[in-house]
Amino acid sequence: MPNHSETKTPRETVTVTDNSSGRSVEFPLLSGSVGPKVMDIRPLYNELGIFTYDPGYTSTGSCKSAITYIDGDQGVLLHRGYAIEDLAEHCDFLEVAHLILNGELPNPTQKARFNDEITHHSMLNEQINFFFRGFRRDAHPMAVMCGVVGAMAAFYHDSTNVHDPRQRMIAGERLIAKMPTVTAWAYKYSMGQPFMYPKNSLGYSENFLHMMFATPCDDYEVNPVLARAMDRILILHADHEQNASTSTVRLAGSSGANPFACIAAGIASLWGPAHGGANEAVLQMLREIGSKDRIPEFIARAKDKNDSFRLMGFGHRVYKNYDPRAKIMQRTCYEVLEELGIHNDPLLSLAIELERIALNDDYFVERKLFPNVDFYSGIIFSAMGIPTQMFTSLFALARTVGWIAQWNEMLTDADQKIGRPRQLYTGEKPRPFRPLADRA
Ligand code: SDX
Repeated sequence: MPNHSETKTPRETVTVTDNSSGRSVEFPLLSGSVGPKVMDIRPLYNELGIFTYDPGYTSTGSCKSAITYIDGDQGVLLHRGYAIEDLAEHCDFLEVAHLILNGELPNPTQKARFNDEITHHSMLNEQINFFFRGFRRDAHPMAVMCGVVGAMAAFYHDSTNVHDPRQRMIAGERLIAKMPTVTAWAYKYSMGQPFMYPKNSLGYSENFLHMMFATPCDDYEVNPVLARAMDRILILHADHEQNASTSTVRLAGSSGANPFACIAAGIASLWGPAHGGANEAVLQMLREIGSKDRIPEFIARAKDKNDSFRLMGFGHRVYKNYDPRAKIMQRTCYEVLEELGIHNDPLLSLAIELERIALNDDYFVERKLFPNVDFYSGIIFSAMGIPTQMFTSLFALARTVGWIAQWNEMLTDADQKIGRPRQLYTGEKPRPFRPLADRA
């Protein structure tokens, strides 16, 4: 297992001087295994009586972690040291899940046991079936998933004690096993079709596609090329360092909240169009653009500071190079469209032209705005027959693995305590109370 503590190096420090008081304080400079060093500012307020100010945490490390490493300048993504390109090429999703959760790729015995555990926990308590019926048929699937996953805390009481490693493991495996069922049932409910139960004879992604598209009326054969493509897409979405939804799960978990509540919080955060909701927004954007001759109009809007429009699926807080996941996603897009006999897909050719124009435009080049993981995924999902509203739910299905791993890491890190940031207060200074009679 990787050593969680920083690599021990001679004491390096950073000196901070408060010129208003003339006080200088040295803060330790900590090194990880790769990547930028961090200045340990924990004593800052006690030493200098000041806070740091970093809305959006652009320069702030919230924790130490051994799970995922991103080099945004190089476009590198590692899970437990393995490159995403190798994992996407040579592994299936549950192998990568085992790696992210436990720190190592499984050997054949571990792989068989893990697959068996996940397979045999894929059913939901039958009572949960009734939760879906409380929603309108046209409810957004992410709303359904927030509700159903949060409600799982009311069913699986035997795995809500966050201080018990065994209960954490059971809760994690339950969530990973059941998310395909919850996601597929949210889709079936929206279609007015009966729920399809998981089949233990099928692999993880195969089972998901079966629950999505099979009906009781016909035998349904999952296309193996599509199942493999889905498995790879889940791998690409499994974890991504301290993104907004993962940080949400960590913050919720830092108060001791149960795992189902924490994952429901992560689903809620992922829903936003600036984050996991971007894949849905990309399809809506491409449909709004409609044709290549309208691309310049939308590129101009994306550059216009007075227009809230942004090029969805472009840009990233960390990647200032091509998102490595986007490259694999683009290849998968070609593979799926080929398998489905879809040639000259208008959305794909529009996306490729949009990418070409943007990557040659100074505005995007100067700001290092490249396609991210969400730019191509929607085209693949759409070709597979998955409705646009379901795209972010598939992202949540995959990211549950990363959320669980990061939540576990947070709970086992001696440095971690309840997250409670401070602020720069800009409100009213103390003032005398004014009785109602004196208020004009
Ligand atoms: C995901 O954090 C993760 O790892 C997330 C994720 C994961 O796996 O968990 O990778 C998944 O969320 C991918 C990102 C999906 N979101 C989108 O595709 C939405 C569109 N992208 C933007 O909203 C934006 O790029 C963000 C939110 C992704 C990142 O925003 P930042 O880091 O806060 O950057 P910024 O808003 O400060 O932008 C810097 C500049 C600004 O211009 P200036 O003020 O310097 O003139 O770039 C501009 C922005 O206006 N800009 C864009 C743009 N993204 C940034 N302009 C037009 N279109 C865009 N997409």
